[in-house]
Amino acid sequence: MTEQDLKPASILVVDDDMAACRLLETILCAQGYAVRTAVSGREVLAAVEERLPDLILLDVLLPDTDGFEVTRKLKADAHSRPIPIILATVLEDRESRLKGLEAGANEFLIKPVDHAELLVRVRNQLKIKEFSDFLTHHNRILGEQVRERTLELHQLMEQTVTAIALTLEKRDPYAAGHQQRVARLAAAIAADMGLSPQQVEGIHFGALLHNIGTVAVPAEILNHPGKLSELQFALIQRHAFTGFEIVKDIPFPWPVAQLVLQHHERLDGSGYPQGLKGEQILLEARILAVADVMEAMLAYRPYRAALGMDAVLDLLSQDNGDRFDPAAVEACLRVVKQPGFAATHP
Ligand SMILES: [Fe+2]
Repeated sequence: MTEQDLKPASILVVDDDMAACRLLETILCAQGYAVRTAVSGREVLAAVEERLPDLILLDVLLPDTDGFEVTRKLKADAHSRPIPIILATVLEDRESRLKGLEAGANEFLIKPVDHAELLVRVRNQLKIKEFSDFLTHHNRILGEQVRERTLELHQLMEQTVTAIALTLEKRDPYAAGHQQRVARLAAAIAADMGLSPQQVEGIHFGALLHNIGTVAVPAEILNHPGKLSELQFALIQRHAFTGFEIVKDIPFPWPVAQLVLQHHERLDGSGYPQGLKGEQILLEARILAVADVMEAMLAYRPYRAALGMDAVLDLLSQDNGDRFDPAAVEACLRVVKQPGFAATHP
């Protein structure tokens, strides 16, 4: 049991008739409740602002405003909304009850108040509030736990996918770090183009895995220093489909398998494996294609020297939307000119 559990329930009694107010205070204090009093609408709002009571016993007729208005204000505020309000009124008519219910009151008492009935209604409302507080507290804890677990799972996925990417690169030392660098660049391009955080994240994971299909390509072909034969080139080209086959059954919340499959497609249909054109290619895959080519041209390969940044930018900007998505190229040109880019792409 916590200190909070041991505290007596606090009740705010509101009545502009001081004698009635004192009488109610005495009755409730005798039952062990902690009672504060107020005589006007303004005082009620100030008292609630100062410290939230567990229940409000509220007279309808107040000098500055009426209990309906006070109830409406308290129920409109998320902070004070959970406090049960019992309206005490001499107004017995149906219209007043409806007005009180519409304002959000939880209970009614007809004045003069029957003391036994008052105590039963107070007890009932406090029990409901206690249960509701318990559920709210429990839900908050559950929500925090779900958030923590989701973050842990996300980190686990990131580490697992990165481990797979690193394993792959052990076979192809010239590609070391390629997938991580492409992942950073592609995500930066996507963010620059205004894609949603969800899409940016999908591109990040798709890029980390985009060459996973090269696991089925013999290492001597991957690292071949000279010109490839037609058959060797066909084997390399198969990596897009092989990669798709490897990841297609993983229930990623993003189109990772399609990204892996389409990362060598080109807008003019000259790419592979399906020869898709234009918007047949997923936007995320068009972005990944730009990042992949940019990053690959900047790197040294056994069969050619690395191209300098200026030469790569020239090649990309001369494409004019033939093979690469012009918006992705433009975004890429902006991203690589940002000050932090060189540090992550040595
Ligand atoms: Fe590739």
